[in-house]
Amino acid sequence: MTTTAAPAVGSALPRVDGLDKVTGRARYAFEHTPRDALYAAPVQATIARGEVDRVDATEALRRPGVVAVVWHANAPRLAPADDAELAVLQSPRVAYRGQYVAVVLAETPHEAREAARLLHVEYTAEPHDVELRADHPKMYRPAQVNAGYATDEEHGDPDAALAAAPVVVDATYTTPAEHNNPMEPHATVAEWHSGGLVLHDSTQGASALRRTLAALFGMPPEQVRVIARHVGGGFGSKGRAHPHVVLAALAAKQVGRPVKLAVTRQQMFAVTGYRTPTVQRVRLGAEPDGRLAAIVHEAFEQSSTIAEFAEQTTVPTRMMYAAPHRRTCHRLVRLDVPTPSWMRAPGETPGMFALESAMDELAAACGVDPVELRVRNEPATDPATGLPFSSRNLVACLREGARRFGWAGRDPRPGVRREGRLLVGTGVAASTYPAYRAPSAASVTAGPDGDFVVRIAATDIGTGARTALTQIAADALGTAPGRVRLEIGDSDLPRATVAGGSMGTASWGTAVVRACHALVAELDRHAGRVPAGGLTAEADTGEEIRGQEKLARHAFGAQFAEVAVDADTGETRVRRLLGVFAAGRIINPVTARSQFLGGMTMGLSMALLEESVMDREFGDYLNHDLAQYHLAAHADVPDVQACWVAEDDPHLNPMGSKGIGEIGIVGTAAAIANAVHHATGVRVRDLPIRLERLL
Ligand code: MOS
Repeated sequence: MTTTAAPAVGSALPRVDGLDKVTGRARYAFEHTPRDALYAAPVQATIARGEVDRVDATEALRRPGVVAVVWHANAPRLAPADDAELAVLQSPRVAYRGQYVAVVLAETPHEAREAARLLHVEYTAEPHDVELRADHPKMYRPAQVNAGYATDEEHGDPDAALAAAPVVVDATYTTPAEHNNPMEPHATVAEWHSGGLVLHDSTQGASALRRTLAALFGMPPEQVRVIARHVGGGFGSKGRAHPHVVLAALAAKQVGRPVKLAVTRQQMFAVTGYRTPTVQRVRLGAEPDGRLAAIVHEAFEQSSTIAEFAEQTTVPTRMMYAAPHRRTCHRLVRLDVPTPSWMRAPGETPGMFALESAMDELAAACGVDPVELRVRNEPATDPATGLPFSSRNLVACLREGARRFGWAGRDPRPGVRREGRLLVGTGVAASTYPAYRAPSAASVTAGPDGDFVVRIAATDIGTGARTALTQIAADALGTAPGRVRLEIGDSDLPRATVAGGSMGTASWGTAVVRACHALVAELDRHAGRVPAGGLTAEADTGEEIRGQEKLARHAFGAQFAEVAVDADTGETRVRRLLGVFAAGRIINPVTARSQFLGGMTMGLSMALLEESVMDREFGDYLNHDLAQYHLAAHADVPDVQACWVAEDDPHLNPMGSKGIGEIGIVGTAAAIANAVHHATGVRVRDLPIRLERLL
């Protein structure tokens, strides 16, 4: 092998699928139309709790084009599901408003939708309870929280330390329910072929979805194939199976024809997951110089009555700052609501809003600069585990951010900078996200023409993963990216972990590098000559990842914001956002920058706009579309800058990279809320920062 090519990792290689995407050649799940396909129109419960008594399909079935109506009384039976949300049409119970109770199948989408409106579903409604309150009598302590973290942890004696602390901050913060809205709504095309199931699905993880579906339909995983060549965003909402996938597969099985199901934007607000609302109490006890003696962070959250989803909201607080005394815990209440799910940096995002707002309150209480306060509380080792950090460059991010942002000389007094009607302020917050890796496999084939094909069931949900993996493979093979072709997005390829937890590139990249190195060794044995049929090598990283050295691996960042608040109307505009990140080696500066900017924009959106509003009587989220669920638009983000500090961490993976998909959102909302306080003197502890919360 020759290694004359310039390194591809670190270069701004344009997206390898960019042309396909802008010319429409890239095909998304719903664009696949098998011969003889039917269209599904799901019907959703109109009560928040109770039972379906009867479904009268007479009128619906009389409509032209309608082929079948499937509901719990006639649906095929499924094996018991680990995730009870997936026991679709298996019982008459209704656990939340919007739950699927039936599906109409017709020759065209219009016929299906029209007939769905004519379906008569009779219910026995029961009183519902949909309101999250920290003092809810049914609050309980889940056995663990997501990603396997302990529900509660305690170090030292936080209560005594708080009682003795000269400076105390004690504040309660709330974040609302928020709904993921990827550009491509969820969609599934399901086909059964001689006992096997093929799904074209908009998913973040083909391998994982295959396992889930195989278990539900009682089949070996090899009989299920999930194809997701292109996915238009997910943000966590496509990270696990949601009921529509099962509904499509069930319906296709029932009628013996392929079924196409596109979740509408409106339906997404009930059936594809959302971020739990949170109530969080944070208490910080400190010396007058800002050094923390105690941190107590308690989170109260919701799940549904059918499945336990316990978000790990206070987990980042366990590793952010040095404090000899600490307690963090989670409590959950099961309400008559849809099951929450993953949404960009679940846990870190709401948790760090509370912690980083409280740190700003502490800075003000101590009269210490908020950048300096964080530097003073920098731990030497991971406070959560006692382990060394593989690398931790939060201080470098804070310092570099302060320099670029022009933080020096900031007047800490709130509410004193005026530009006409506008009050102007700046704020800072820290950011963090774990650097996870999960086992994956890959294969690579050398063709006789000097080209290579890399195969792995990874997914590119718009992140640029296909491009990053091309660069990684090119370097590992000692060739140019143009000689490498990636095959991804198909569960028939070597199994890969989900595009989630900001661990896709690190996990898949490890497998790709190992397979490429194995191929290079194999080629050397063949004196560099590729046999006529090509040469293939494979790798599986299960053992490597399970055996990796125990270290605390996290990415860090610092978020800076400048806001202008109209003193008369309360209208808040973010004038500038700057994020500085330490995330190991950056594989592609163009796609990485896009990831950071996307995350920061979502953080801005969270700070000022996003809120799913629960109606207590109605038992549902009231805003079901983008007219009522507000997201940041271009006009809301005039100046967002992301950059990174050099970080050389040999303890991560062969690329030296940390995940970058989620860290951009973490801390952004706190930086903005802190800037709003600096501008106005009003501390908004409840997101989003609406006008009336400022006036
Ligand atoms: Mo991300 S919420 O882990 O897909």
